[in-house]
Amino acid sequence: MELIIATKEEINKLVSEEIIELINKNNHCILGLATGSTPIGVYDLLVKAYNDKRVSFKDVTSFNLDEYVGLEETHNQSYRYFMNSHLFDHVDINIDNTHIPSNKDDSNNYKIYDEKIKNAGGIDIQLLGIGSNGHIAFNEPGTPFNTKTHIVSLKESTINDNARFFSSKDEVPKEAISMGLESIMNAKRVVLIAYGKNKQEAIYKMMALEPSEDLPASILQNHPNVTIYCDEEASELLVNNLK
Ligand code: F6R
Repeated sequence: MELIIATKEEINKLVSEEIIELINKNNHCILGLATGSTPIGVYDLLVKAYNDKRVSFKDVTSFNLDEYVGLEETHNQSYRYFMNSHLFDHVDINIDNTHIPSNKDDSNNYKIYDEKIKNAGGIDIQLLGIGSNGHIAFNEPGTPFNTKTHIVSLKESTINDNARFFSSKDEVPKEAISMGLESIMNAKRVVLIAYGKNKQEAIYKMMALEPSEDLPASILQNHPNVTIYCDEEASELLVNNLK
């Protein structure tokens, strides 16, 4: 695993430029996208590059990591809403080529999500954030390393964490759909970004300890092409332990 420690601004720039370069080399590329606070700065720079006519998303396909079960796409906490409002609505991507796992209308599209990704040619670059407990996508500690896209019952701690985004805790969905750890490992390249002190323990365990299902992100040690981008705060514990 390659580790790059830089400022948030530098990381947003480096990651967005890598994506722009990939699209300009292969305009039919497949992007694996994440939601959450971490990738917002990258999406802002991608929108800017589109407005500056440095890149076009016309032929790009995307697959998102996860989605809540039971939220309408128009709900302002759905991950579809997040992606539309932070990226898709502002660039020329064909919305039909943007995929978010779902079991809406009993379509159960999540059951064939991995197959769909494979048939599209596989993810060229997967963008990831990391939970403070080491989760990637909604794969919480204890998730088997060989999981594919699946339904997850949200842990009480995650429901409590996410309650701040809803008007009451009762409104937080109890389930989500998530790409599995194996789905993520199938990406050709993985870029994980971590900002802030509350990620430092997860970053330390992910990079310094043996891979373990207790820390889902540690599976990335077995991936041949991963870059971890951390700001100074997120890398502090790791760096102190290397001294
Ligand atoms: C989002 C996702 C999650 C987040 C993680 C970090 O699609 O899959 O694993 O990446 O919870 O969230 P933030 O970026 O809000 O700290």
